[in-house]
Amino acid sequence: MATPASQADITLAIAFDAPTDATHARDLALNLGLPLLGLLADQQQPCPYQALLLVAGRQLAVQLTGKGAPGPLRVDFGSGAMRHRRKSGANELLGRAMGIGKKTQLRVLDGTAGLGRDAFVLADLGARVTLCERSAVVAHLLRSGIEAAVGSDDDWLSSVAQRMELRAGETCELSLLPGQFDVVYLDPMFPPRDKRAAVKKDMAVFQRLLGASASGAAAAELLGWALAQDVARVVVKRPVRAPALGERPVSHCIRGKTVRYDVYVLRSLTA
Ligand SMILES: C[S@@+](CC[C@H](N)C(=O)[O-])C[C@H]1O[C@@H](n2cnc3c(N)ncnc32)[C@H](O)[C@@H]1O
Repeated sequence: MATPASQADITLAIAFDAPTDATHARDLALNLGLPLLGLLADQQQPCPYQALLLVAGRQLAVQLTGKGAPGPLRVDFGSGAMRHRRKSGANELLGRAMGIGKKTQLRVLDGTAGLGRDAFVLADLGARVTLCERSAVVAHLLRSGIEAAVGSDDDWLSSVAQRMELRAGETCELSLLPGQFDVVYLDPMFPPRDKRAAVKKDMAVFQRLLGASASGAAAAELLGWALAQDVARVVVKRPVRAPALGERPVSHCIRGKTVRYDVYVLRSLTA
């Protein structure tokens, strides 16, 4: 079951860019149980909702309303930031933690898909990634981003996105077949809600969208579920100085400047 949009920390409604988007917007409003406002250009100011889910063609975006609101949050795998991340070398740590290269076309379950950035990196490194996301709104954003990338003219972008498959809902409710995946990847991590910290604006919007659904206990439970699956390893992304999740000792860690990947080896990846 996906987490309903009503659990967000913000009041949310749907608006659309052009009259041709009306049907898609209405279907989405019914699906998510959100109010449908109508054309974006017709909306009254100030907007009575704190954020709008904007429909523009097949692309979705979340836009906070009000003065000084940051730009829209959308899933754009072809963005400069994603292309930069591809070249920056930071992906090597994630790839090493996951065991990329130890097996051809690693099959990964990303149990905390979010905006799909890590999953895209893994798909770009050659893995086949199934992404599971429990927030219904986030899952819709992600689906629109994957579909846009698959349909892109950019062959690289399209071929990477074709290695990504989304399932909306709670990861712990998945029934995995024995050996279906090689690695379960979990990133339950959030930047601190500390106003002094420079939490990136898009991540701040993302956190408000998810509301209070994230907790340490829930993350430890998710790790327990992952460790009980028939996979070769489980990898958990953590802030570099944070304690490990759960009780089980970590097999080894791959450390970056700000994040750490805790690797739980259950069996050999090459077996
Ligand atoms: C920190 S974000 C992950 C960011 C992601 N790694 C990325 O690169 O964009 C965590 C996400 O996991 C989702 N999530 C947390 N626990 C989950 C669970 N048990 N089942 C499915 N999704 C979950 C949250 O809704 C949130 O969107």
